[in-house]
Amino acid sequence: MPVSPKLFRNTLAKFCTGVTIVTTKSQDGLHGLTVNSFTSVSLDPPMILICIQKNGLSHSTLYECEDFVVNVLSEEQKELSDRFANPALDSEERFLDLNFRLSENSVPILAGNLGHLECRLVDRFEGGDHTIFIGQVENGDFCAGKQPLLFYDGGYAYLVS
Ligand SMILES: Cc1cc2nc3c(=O)[nH]c(=O)nc-3n(C[C@H](O)[C@H](O)[C@H](O)COP(=O)(O)O)c2cc1C
Repeated sequence: MPVSPKLFRNTLAKFCTGVTIVTTKSQDGLHGLTVNSFTSVSLDPPMILICIQKNGLSHSTLYECEDFVVNVLSEEQKELSDRFANPALDSEERFLDLNFRLSENSVPILAGNLGHLECRLVDRFEGGDHTIFIGQVENGDFCAGKQPLLFYDGGYAYLVS
């Protein structure tokens, strides 16, 4: 007997995560969405994974992409997280007036983030209503002195020091 969807969601919500915006590009332009299903997979070679819902707009773009960037959000970037999680906004609207630079593979790296990982898509796995995308990390950087944006119990949270 599977766990009830409500109990599953409410229990998962007790697992505190950081928040990322995963960016990529296609022939149509730039794309991005808010993602917290991000984790490290392997240190050697350096690999990470993200899980993306199949019925979202970004899924097909990620499925076809060669490269993506995981932007780890800082505590000042809650509005960006909301913007890139808003299904009513298309890609152009999500990137409107946004400050970013492009990686060597022309994928957006958002200004003000806590860190980023430039990934080459190396594998994909079925995961129910999500696809698990595996990225091999080719480059990255982080910013010392910033605090992370967290997600806990269905809302944003912040580190208290
Ligand atoms: C904090 C937070 C974390 C999220 N994490 C994920 C995730 O890991 N995978 C996912 O597919 N959607 C996640 N979402 C939801 C997507 O960001 C949202 O459905 C977005 O509209 C999808 O973009 P798309 O319509 O371009 O596919 C998250 C939303 C929030 C606010």
